[in-house]
Amino acid sequence: MNPSQKTGQMEMAQPAWTVGGACHHRGMMMDSTFLPAAPLAEAEREGLYRAILTRRDTRGEFLPDDVPDEIVSRILVAAHHAPSVGFMQPWSFVIVRNPEVRRRVHDAFVTAHAEAALMFPEDKRDFYSALKLEGIMEAPLNICVTCDRNRAGPVVIGRTHIRTMDMFSSVCAVQNLWLAARAEGLGVGWVSIFDNATVQAALNIPKGIVPIAYLCVGKVKGYHRRPELEAAGWRPRLPLDELLHFDQWDGPEPEEALTRLVREDQRSVNQGTFVGALAQSLRQ
Ligand SMILES: Cc1cc2nc3c(=O)[nH]c(=O)nc-3n(C[C@H](O)[C@H](O)[C@H](O)COP(=O)(O)O)c2cc1C
Repeated sequence: MNPSQKTGQMEMAQPAWTVGGACHHRGMMMDSTFLPAAPLAEAEREGLYRAILTRRDTRGEFLPDDVPDEIVSRILVAAHHAPSVGFMQPWSFVIVRNPEVRRRVHDAFVTAHAEAALMFPEDKRDFYSALKLEGIMEAPLNICVTCDRNRAGPVVIGRTHIRTMDMFSSVCAVQNLWLAARAEGLGVGWVSIFDNATVQAALNIPKGIVPIAYLCVGKVKGYHRRPELEAAGWRPRLPLDELLHFDQWDGPEPEEALTRLVREDQRSVNQGTFVGALAQSLRQ
């Protein structure tokens, strides 16, 4: 018999990466210890950067295979552990498998996609129309991440002056889910080309709750090495060192050492050596 069976109380398992224990403070259970502030182990750090650098928006690569619920659960847990303003956790997740519901969302995409084509200059319209920009029907699973704008009441810590912070929080959840999905060998494609009200109606999402991201999720035959829009010549990745400002937007001199490092690191990403080089520098 283990101790929790003896006392009849729930026993909180201590994750391997925690140290110390818990204490009570004014009747509340408090975690009395910090996690060690050491960097992650080499392989873990490598894995994180690998997931970040090889995550792709996936559209045309979905396989029809079911995604095991164990994996769906894990990527949802990753999403739910995102940061949120005032710990608002404004997100919910609509898991969409039903082909009829997906068809309605796809119809909304088709309408908006045709409207969008007309917004581009004439010489870019055909290019735009030929791009594959969704995998709604091909992916076995769609997930809509929402934002409940009233989840934590009218006044929320950190959101008193910038109301949109709740939506940014839901976007953080999307990014966590996206990276976890990459680590699990899944692809995720974000579809935003539709009228949000149509998606809201298709999923029967109540007023006051906003669809933030409509995601196509599934196993994929592979990940493109570079963003498809970059490879197709639509737009290149911008040089990171040109996006840095110091102290002020139009500050005097750029910090040379950091700028040089950023340029070198970006070059090694482009050459596919960043993760390996990282491992080597950690070993030194
Ligand atoms: C907010 C947001 C909306 C997006 N909407 C679409 C979309 O409607 N269709 C699409 O094909 N890709 C969409 N994308 C994916 C981007 O095109 C993609 O992230 C970008 O081209 C870089 O490629 P990568 O994600 O593979 O690195 C969206 C991404 C974000 C962050």
